[in-house]
Amino acid sequence: LHTIARPKDLAGLRIAVTAGPTQEALDPVRYLTNHSTGKMGYALARAAAMRGAEVTLIHGQTALPPVKFTTDVPVTTARQMYEAVTDRFDTTDVLIMAAAVADYRPATVADDKIKKKEGDLSIPVERTEDILGTIGPRKTHQFLCGFSMETRDLVENSSAKLAKKNLDMVVANNLKVAGAGFGVDTNVVTFITPDGTRELPLMSKADVADAILDEILRRRAK
Ligand code: CTP
Ligand code: CA
Repeated sequence: LHTIARPKDLAGLRIAVTAGPTQEALDPVRYLTNHSTGKMGYALARAAAMRGAEVTLIHGQTALPPVKFTTDVPVTTARQMYEAVTDRFDTTDVLIMAAAVADYRPATVADDKIKKKEGDLSIPVERTEDILGTIGPRKTHQFLCGFSMETRDLVENSSAKLAKKNLDMVVANNLKVAGAGFGVDTNVVTFITPDGTRELPLMSKADVADAILDEILRRRAK
């Protein structure tokens, strides 16, 4: 159903979607990451391509097959994702940051496998680049859509991100709601924009993707 007879209502739009987790190496064997599987971001890339957009999918490591009719840009770390996004930013009309970017990376990456030893019980970390936080204040014509995963105070926390990162829209999901979050094929999201909030019912990630694109199209037309 999703692959046939789609109106090409996004034709002419250049959309960059980020998806999946980043991995931040500690040594040649280990890394810091999170539970993101990339499903929501890939669904967005697929839906946008079906609707005629020129789509670049910048993604961390996932188990998903590449999305047809998109430019595939695989990355590993937050720094690489930052570079991939900023390199294309001038020629991007809509940036949708569905990726779960690691907030911290180990302060140093050991050349050799770290061996366990007495008293060695913490890992020094540093902040990664905040991709949206850095480019939000610099945006010109771009529409910026962030994601927000929360376990409490969903609307308050997500509204703060909308303002702080200078975004046009935040898609917020509450990790504690059944049918939402990591790995599953459904989601329950709330759209947060400068005009207010709108909670959507439980939907497939494919339908959530189309609803997000509908909202972006509507808001860009204003
Ligand atoms: N994001 C980003 N760069 C980062 C971290 C997050 O661009 N280093 C983006 C995410 O892709 C998402 C949005 O910012 O679209 C919000 O991510 P989130 O983790 O919810 O917000 P943070 O600002 O990292 O706040 P916290 O994790 O403390 O809730
Ligand atoms: Ca974060």
